[in-house]
Amino acid sequence: MKIVMAAAVAALMSTGVMAAGDPAAGKAKSATCAGCHGVDGKAMVPTYPNLAGQNAAYLEGALKAYKTQERKGYQAALMYGMSANLSDQDIADLAAYYASLK
Ligand code: HEC
Repeated sequence: MKIVMAAAVAALMSTGVMAAGDPAAGKAKSATCAGCHGVDGKAMVPTYPNLAGQNAAYLEGALKAYKTQERKGYQAALMYGMSANLSDQDIADLAAYYASLK
């Protein structure tokens, strides 16, 4: 079972489903995000989420779900505009950047 899982993950990664993120590029793209999520990835307001140190794959999934507006509830609508113009590469870079912060 473990081998099957590893093969499935490897297959996913090799088909480019998960673009490799570049933290430096992500940092350069994060200026608008910092207004709410903080320059260090720690939110400015207690009702906003911290992103620093979060799993990159999770951040990527969250941003894609906002972009398609599949993620709803609470303050999700706030993120629709923020994610609307992000490419898959932007999302991967931003995810890699926030995951790299402590
Ligand atoms: C106007 C304030 C604001 C800005 C600017 C903003 N965000 Fe957000 N972000 C939020 C709020 C509020 C939430 C929580 C939304 C919810 O309830 O689902 C959130 C959620 C997220 C999440 C999901 C976190 C989790 O734990 O599930 C990610 C990832 C994210 N933002 C990334 C970004 C990125 C990357 C940018 C810049 C392109 C950005 N945000 C810009 C306010 C903002």
